[in-house]
Amino acid sequence: MSGGKPGAVPRRGMHLGVFVETTGRHLAAWRHRDVAPHAPMSLDHYRAVAAEAERGLFDLFFLADGLAIRDRSAERLGRSPKAHFEPLTLLSALSTATRHIGLVATASTTFNEPFHVARKFASLDHLSGGRAGWNIVTSSSSTEAENFGSAPIPPAAKRYQRADEFVEVVTGLWDSWDDDAVVADQQSGRYFHPQSLHALEHRGEHFQVRGPLNVTRTPQGRPLLVQAGSSDAGISFGARHGEVIYTAQTTLGDAQAFIRRIKGLAQDHGRRADDLRVLPGLFPVVGASRSEAQEKFDYLQSLVHPEVGLAQLEHHLGGVDLSAYPPDALFPELPEAQGATSRAALLAHVARRDGLTIRDLYLQVAVARGHPVVIGTASDIADFMQAWFEQGAADGFNIMPGWLPQGLGEFVDRVVPELQRRGLFRTRYEGRTVRELMGLRQPASRFAAHASAV
Ligand SMILES: Cc1cc2nc3c(=O)[nH]c(=O)nc-3n(C[C@H](O)[C@H](O)[C@H](O)COP(=O)(O)O)c2cc1C
Repeated sequence: MSGGKPGAVPRRGMHLGVFVETTGRHLAAWRHRDVAPHAPMSLDHYRAVAAEAERGLFDLFFLADGLAIRDRSAERLGRSPKAHFEPLTLLSALSTATRHIGLVATASTTFNEPFHVARKFASLDHLSGGRAGWNIVTSSSSTEAENFGSAPIPPAAKRYQRADEFVEVVTGLWDSWDDDAVVADQQSGRYFHPQSLHALEHRGEHFQVRGPLNVTRTPQGRPLLVQAGSSDAGISFGARHGEVIYTAQTTLGDAQAFIRRIKGLAQDHGRRADDLRVLPGLFPVVGASRSEAQEKFDYLQSLVHPEVGLAQLEHHLGGVDLSAYPPDALFPELPEAQGATSRAALLAHVARRDGLTIRDLYLQVAVARGHPVVIGTASDIADFMQAWFEQGAADGFNIMPGWLPQGLGEFVDRVVPELQRRGLFRTRYEGRTVRELMGLRQPASRFAAHASAV
């Protein structure tokens, strides 16, 4: 699937990841009749999700993460799970229960040390036989900062400066063992070649790291770098380092513009457009007929508790208090200062444009939070995906099932065969590592590049 002769770009199929947000992307997923109530803290649940994803020949199993219960109203209300496993720990367990799928965990560059992160992902890459990926986030929430001392969350520009140096150190540490460093020759008593082990000697603004790493070169050389920043600084960071880019895009035109922008920026940094795979999120609800899909969707919406729906909307509006307004009245005019963030302004604009009530708006926000929603037959969903894929708006999709694992199972049963029938998606796994699965090349070790340059 990967590589090919220079100049002759092989027709590549789309790539599919699953966004595993405990019991599903929908705000009320945990209340779904098919979902086990204690699933968020159950290994069996995630094993079942991973099994469905591999049955569907997915490329990536993705665990988002935050370093706090980020939404304070959730603590107060106690009406949504909000607790889940630490992603690298969970993926280490799942590495023994899966064989093909890439395992992507989120780790923060703001509240971590590069040595820890390099070591953990290198270990996961070994444990999984070359299937580890790191979703690089800088953490933007003040609730996360409160768990790491009293300093406020640094501004985005500062966070991304640290993130740049962080990635530099992590990838350097991953390069510290050459591919052939270890000989483990019991006869001669030679374990590794000392000349093939490289100290990093990093001295930077944020980190001083000697190295080398105490984990050998990983099966993929380097775990996959995944990223989802959407500010200018975030997109530019993704263009420099990201190999898989997650993004929230609502229209085909916006997605085309995004992909052109980030791949263009990557080329400005000397990378090839083909070194990045851009996967927009997609929330599908599939049924044997459109009305069956709609019924499934309506059932999910009926599970949204009014207090939770309202609290989530207030959160997205930047903390406004809507409790004084009747939920079935038209969305009110809010004082300018409260609608300050771009997301808040957008929500208020949509509400007024479409004549929505407060309840209508919180139900909209409860579904996919900014990602496109397609409710219909397998053919409807495949049409959407095919259009985006063939018109340069996506290299694949980050599928966000409304509830797990059944919502994913239905996608695998109905939509995957339709994509295969159209020649858009693989019919069996090929390749050993997640890089091979994604058609992404292995970056050369910086020490190998250095050695061949001298
Ligand atoms: C699909 C997707 C998944 C994301 N997962 C996480 C996550 O797990 N943890 C996190 O802190 N941020 C996550 N983010 C947020 C981004 O990393 C980023 O912080 C956000 O898009 C704002 O962009 P900025 O950091 O460039 O301002 C995700 C974004 C998207 C689109």
